[in-house]
Amino acid sequence: MLLYFQDQAGAARALANAAGLACHCVDVHRFPDGEVKLRLPHQLSARVTVFRSLHHPNEKLVELLLLARTARTLGAVHLTLVAPYLAYMRQDMAFMPGEAVSQRIIGAFLASLFDAVITVDPHLHRVATLAEAMPMEHAIVLTGAAPLSDLVVKLKDRPLLIGPDEESGQWVALAADRHGLDFAVCRKVRSGDRDVAVALPDVQVSGRAVVIMDDVASTGNTLAAAARLLHSAGAVSIDAAVTHALFDNGAIDTIRSAGVGQIWSTDCIAHATNTVSMAPLIAQALTEMFAN
Ligand code: R5P
Repeated sequence: MLLYFQDQAGAARALANAAGLACHCVDVHRFPDGEVKLRLPHQLSARVTVFRSLHHPNEKLVELLLLARTARTLGAVHLTLVAPYLAYMRQDMAFMPGEAVSQRIIGAFLASLFDAVITVDPHLHRVATLAEAMPMEHAIVLTGAAPLSDLVVKLKDRPLLIGPDEESGQWVALAADRHGLDFAVCRKVRSGDRDVAVALPDVQVSGRAVVIMDDVASTGNTLAAAARLLHSAGAVSIDAAVTHALFDNGAIDTIRSAGVGQIWSTDCIAHATNTVSMAPLIAQALTEMFAN
């Protein structure tokens, strides 16, 4: 059985179809004061999968707390969270004394509610595995870099893949390796939410079709900063592929005005740029986990 919320019905139903699961929408009532009340199907199967992608996460985390605790009382023995986008993974250390290390706190919170988690390209930079941030038996990580890379090679002729910062190196290397493409990674210094300085690597860009790949784009400033440099360096085309299309207000304009043509993303977060469905890979991961 798969439970989902109405605002993510499309991706949840696609997953339920791919995995052969019956799916049910959780009824959510929002009170005038901002509190929520959930209503689940009154008879749950022993194994329940919950679909919740966690962009704009704060209210969703409370919903998951209410849902998971209620599901246990209604008969669920094993709870899996499918969170194609996992929030709070970027705050993985205290950069200043006194800062909350959100990755560990939210990771431990979700691990206290669920027996398993399946996610896509969590932003793991200073930790090697998701289980370090989210201690549970099944902490399964899938990648959008592979299907995005498959799409890119269909649409562009031998593109040069560029990662806009060091963290993106893991996904860009994987995407390039899959199709024997050239790749390189920029250096980035962030001085604020919307302030980034990017330096291009020492690589021949002139005359190349370039695709910038990253796990996530939020304000779009990282992609835009890299695109401006690539444009100056003589790239014949600049496109972008991201796993998580957070794209807040104005991000697409920021990216396009920097000279980016096509923008492709996975459906981990619903957005007009979605071109790759993760449902088949998530369904396969669910099937394999339950087979074990
Ligand atoms: C951070 O390291 C991530 O990989 C992204 O590069 C970053 O979150 C993008 O943020 P923005 O689009 O706001 O520059």
